[in-house]
This record gives sequence, C-alpha cells and structure tokens, in this order.
Amino acid sequence: MKLTLAKVAQDPSLATNSFEVDGQEFVFRPLTTEDIPLLTEFLAGLSAESRRLSTFDGYDQLAAQGLIDAINRYDKLRFCIQDGSRMVGLIEFSFGLPQEDIDRFAMAGIKLTENSDCRFGPTLADDYQDRGIGSKLFPLVTQVARAFGKSRIILWGGGIIGQPQSY
Ligand SMILES: CC(C)(COP(=O)(O)OP(=O)(O)OC[C@H]1O[C@@H](n2cnc3c(N)ncnc32)[C@H](O)[C@@H]1OP(=O)(O)O)[C@@H](O)C(=O)NCCC(=O)NCCS
Repeated sequence: MKLTLAKVAQDPSLATNSFEVDGQEFVFRPLTTEDIPLLTEFLAGLSAESRRLSTFDGYDQLAAQGLIDAINRYDKLRFCIQDGSRMVGLIEFSFGLPQEDIDRFAMAGIKLTENSDCRFGPTLADDYQDRGIGSKLFPLVTQVARAFGKSRIILWGGGIIGQPQSY
C-alpha cells in the first residue's frame, strides 16, 4: 500500500514494525501526539557529542512539543524506536529537498528530485549506539522510503568534507 503522511498520522499501525537485536525486541513506529514525555526524556538524555552529530531545535519539552506539532504538517515523518517503555531512537524522514542538497549532489553528477529521493536522519540514545541497532534498522528505513514511492535515500544534513556544513 502506498503511504502518505496523512495515512500514517491517521493510523500509525500502518507503518509500525518490530526488529530484534541479540534477542532483544525493539518497536519502530511513527511518533504520535502522545509521545511528548517519552520524546522529552529521549532528547534531554542525548550527550553533547550526539547533539553535535544530530542537531535539533532544542533538547527539552518545548523541542519535543515542536516535533509533535509537526506531525502531518510540512514534509517530515518521524519514527521512534522503543525498548519497552523507553524511547531509545528517533528516525527522521524528509520528503522535501533543500536547494543546497540538490546543488551539492548536482556537483557530483546526481540529479535529485522529490519524486524519487528522500532524506533520513537517525539518532540513537547514547547507550544504544554501536550495538548493531542502526544496521538492523536500515531495511525498515528503506521499506518506509519505498512505501512513500521513493527509490533513493540521502543522509539528512550531509555535507562536503572540508567545507562548512549547514543544517
Ligand atoms: C549513527 C547511528 C544511527 C548508527 O547506529 P548504530 O546502531 O550505532 O550503528 P551500528 O552499531 O549498527 O553500526 C553500523 C556501522 O556503522 C559504523 N558507525 C556507527 N556510528 C558511526 C559514526 N558516527 N560514524 C561512522 N561510522 C559509524 C559502525 O562502526 C558499524 O560499522 P561496521 O559494520 O563496519 O562495524 C548511531 O550511532 C547514532 O545515533 N549516532 C549519534 C547520532 C548520529 O551520528 N546520527 C547521524 C547523523 S547524520
């Protein structure tokens, strides 16, 4: 079934999955309006290094509220990873392409279009990094992109090595 932001917002179960890492089960599901407390805790817990690598507007309840308010508005779709009752990851998709990404890829001879391409940005809680979760998650990321009719995924916030990056 082809998914849209509106369909996912109306019925998050359409895009909900689970995966296992070393026998431990994680749920991968769209963010919902109920998630402010879990998301606040997740953002507040990120270390300075994770915040440097994954930049959000803030790391508190206001920032969480902003991400929740964006559900089914604009061009973004956000998933979380849940371990039991704790949120341990935030996976963001954007179905809009900033001109600077279009220009950057054009310099490498690649023509990005919003019909074929989307962006994704992963962030795991510090104590869940380097445990193989990202690798197990990636097939689900590609599944979401395909369900939205996209055939390519680029990294959100990528840049050219040696040049200043903007986020
Ligand atoms: C990046 C991230 C999502 C990867 O998920 P993960 O579960 O930690 O990754 P995995 O344990 O599945 O490792 C996958 C591979 O990526 C490599 N890797 C992990 N983090 C990396 C990083 N920051 N830079 C380069 N390589 C990295 C691992 O060494 C591993 O390589 P291998 O298969 O050759 O051993 C996670 O580490 C994270 O959230 N980091 C902080 C935020 C961040 O950097 N987000 C990306 C912003 S663009």
